Formats: sequence, structure tokens, C-alpha cells
Amino acid sequence: MLAEATRFEEECLTALARASDGAAMEAWRTRVLGGSGALKSLMARLREVPKAEKPAIGQRLNEMKLRLEAAYGARLAEVGRAASTGPTIDITEPGIPPPDGRRHVLMRTIDEIVEVFGRMGFSVAEGPEVEDEWHNFTALNIPEGHPARDATDNFYMGEDAGARRLLRTQTSTVQIRALERQKPPLRIIATGRVYRPDTHDATHYSMFHQIEGLYVDRGVTMVDLKSTLFHFARAYFGAEAEVRMRPSFFPFTEPSAEVDMKMQVKGEWKWVELGGCGMVDPNVLRAVGVDPEQWTGFAFGLGIERIAMRRYGISDIRWLFENDARFLRQF
Ligand code: DAH
Repeated sequence: MLAEATRFEEECLTALARASDGAAMEAWRTRVLGGSGALKSLMARLREVPKAEKPAIGQRLNEMKLRLEAAYGARLAEVGRAASTGPTIDITEPGIPPPDGRRHVLMRTIDEIVEVFGRMGFSVAEGPEVEDEWHNFTALNIPEGHPARDATDNFYMGEDAGARRLLRTQTSTVQIRALERQKPPLRIIATGRVYRPDTHDATHYSMFHQIEGLYVDRGVTMVDLKSTLFHFARAYFGAEAEVRMRPSFFPFTEPSAEVDMKMQVKGEWKWVELGGCGMVDPNVLRAVGVDPEQWTGFAFGLGIERIAMRRYGISDIRWLFENDARFLRQF
């Protein structure tokens, strides 16, 4: 029996030296030291040993057990696994479902706005965020030297083939791009980012989104403009939405108006500017080769963040861009 135990010990130590990863170590531990392992069955055979020899053999087996355990500990440290290595994956566990992703509340708002205007017959047009001065200013009846072109109010980006480029300050650029591509009648909306060097506060950000609308046809009037905007407001915010138009000025429309909407700011209901609108200025139509004697049109440009804030009760624009999942998950 002693000879057999010695062979067993040698065989175990050789196998242990070959175990080189956590899985092999664990297999060895189960086979040799485990609750129904080889060492246990060897010890059990002590019962068959004649009484006189029992103490000596028992002692030898105990020493062997201690040596094997110590060798296991030392090898485990070498292999670099924690002593608690055990089966780490229980495939019967139900598992942790990954959290659902969702669209950003602003993207959702844009989809919803596009859908409302789509029902009114507007299709979607696009334009680039990096623009030239023609589309951002000149064609929109904003002449050289106009204060809207000041370096302090724009993000200029340097020249390309002699033309200055800038991050567009308004989606009105897409009015020009659409009319360059397609002659009237046309009815388009464009949504996208615009950039202004504004100081951030609860209602301002240096990048935000606008929705631009343009409808050019024969005999379009201010009544069409007003009914389109009011219809949008009622369809999107509900019948109780309060919207108003106020005379104003924009170089690209005549007459022009500002669009305000009643919304809650810090718990108080106030008129907040949503954007501007008006009848397309004849100079704008001429810039794209459209005859203002035959065609008239209306245009509008609204801030999407403010629309989202009113729709979803968000009281600070900055939350929209902090990407705090706890905030975004609410929508
Ligand atoms: N582009 C203007 C702005 O960013 C908003 C605007 C006003 C757009 C009147 C229009 C318009 O289309 O007709 O402040």
C-alpha cells in the first residue's frame, strides 16, 4: 500500500507540474484533493490495513496529503490564479439582460416633427453643415458688411478656393440649396444642426437644431403661413397650445414675424421665442433665378430644442447634450 501511495504521489506531482492554466488546476484539484477525489479513496482504504500497521501508514498518508495540498497552493500561485478559483460560469443562471437602447429625445422630436409636416405635404431636403457665404448670407439677402456676418457671431473656418467657409448659423441655407435644385412649386422642410458662438445657459447652446420650412407656389399668402404653423402647433403640442406671431424683421423675408409659444420656464408660463417666419423676399427668389412676379412663398425656421423642451417638459437645454443616461432614459 505504501508503494502504491508513493507512485500515486509522484504521478500527481507530475500532473500538477504540467497544469498550466486555471482550468487544468481546477481539474487537478477535483481529481486529487476533491471531495470524491483520489486521495479520499486512498485514505478510505486505511480500513483494510491490519491494525498494527495503521498508525504508521496513516501518518504517511497524512504527510502525503499535506505535501500535495502545499504543492497545489504553490503551483496555483505560479499559475497566477486566485486560491478561490472555482467554476466561474454557471450556465443555468438567468443572466443579466443588456439595457434597452433608445433614440435620443431630440432625434425622436425631429422624427415626430417631420411626420407632422409630412402629413401636410412637405418633403425633406438637406444641406451641409459647413457652408459658403453665398448660401448662408448672400443669397439670403444678407449683403457684405451686414452685422450678421461679423466674425464674433460666426464660426469661420478658413478659405476653400478663395471662398470663406463657415459652420452654418441657420438652416435657411437649405432654402437656397433646395431652390437651386428644384424649381417651384415646392414644399420642403429641412432639419439639422446650426452653430453660433453663444454663451451656454438654460435656453442657449452654441450648437442646436433648427427646422426650416419653405413653400413656394403661385398665390401663397401669409394666411397659408399662419395656418401651417398653427396647425403644426396644435397637432404636435395639443389643442391647448398657445402660439402667437409678432411683427419682426429678417433680411430674407418681407413681411417677417417671430413665432412665440407659451411654455413653462422655471415653473412659470412665459412666451418664449420659437423662431422666425415670413414671406420669402423677392431678392431671395431672384438669387436662385425664380421670378417673384409669378411665384410667392413663405418660410419659417424654428428651434428644435425649444420644441422638445416644450413637448417633453425639459427645463434646461444643456441636459440634452450632457449624455447622462439617467436623463435620457426618461424619454
Ligand atoms: N434663420 C432665422 C434664424 O436662424 C430664422 C428664420 C426666420 C427662418 C425667418 C426663416 C424665416 O425661414 O423666414 O434666426
